[in-house]
Amino acid sequence: MNNEHIGEIIYSEKEIQKRIEEIAQLINKDYKFKEPILIGIFKGSIYFLSDLSRELEIQHNIDFLSIGRFKSTEGTKEKIKITKDLDLSIKNRDVIVVEDIIRTGLTHSYIVKYLEPKRPNSINLCVFLNSKVQRLVELPIKYSGFEIDNKFVIGYGLDYEEKYRNLPYIANFRQ
Ligand code: IMP
Ligand code: MG
Repeated sequence: MNNEHIGEIIYSEKEIQKRIEEIAQLINKDYKFKEPILIGIFKGSIYFLSDLSRELEIQHNIDFLSIGRFKSTEGTKEKIKITKDLDLSIKNRDVIVVEDIIRTGLTHSYIVKYLEPKRPNSINLCVFLNSKVQRLVELPIKYSGFEIDNKFVIGYGLDYEEKYRNLPYIANFRQ
C-alpha cells in the first residue's frame, strides 16, 4: 500500500477499542429496556458501527443511510441528498445515528430533518470524532468518542479520496 499520506497517529487501535467499550457500556445502560436501531451513515461509520455493535449487550437493529453531496446548478452552494434509504421502519423506534465525524454539523442536521418526519420515538447521536472548532449549527451530542481539532484526519472509516478507510487507527493526513 502506498502510505504517503499517513501522518502521526492521533488515536491508536488500542485507545479506540477501549473508548468503544466505554461508549457501549453507556448505551447498554441508557437503552437497557429498549431495542434501538443503530443507523450508520455510509461510508465513514462502518468500522465504528461494527465494533460498537459487537460490544453492545442489548438487543438492537442495524440499518444504513447514504448521503450524497452535489454542487447545485445555481453555483457554488452544496446540496445534500439521500442516495441509499433505510430498509427498516423507524416509526416509534429509538434511533441512534452513528457517524464518523461531526465538524460543521450540517450533514447531521440534514439527517435529523430527514428522520424526524418518520416519527421515531427518539433520535440520539453517537459520533466517533467531534471537532467543535468548525461548528456552524449547534447540536446535542449524546455519545462522542474523541475530540479533535480542525486538521483533516484519515483512518478508521475516514477517507482521503476513498482511500485509507481501513487503517485501524486515526492519523493526521499528510499532504
Ligand atoms: P460536517 O457536515 O461538516 O459535520 O462534515 C462531516 C462529514 O465530512 C463527515 O461525515 C465526513 O464524511 C467528512 N469529513 C469531515 N472531516 C473529515 C476528515 O478529517 N477526514 C475525512 N472525512 C472528513
Ligand atoms: Mg469522505
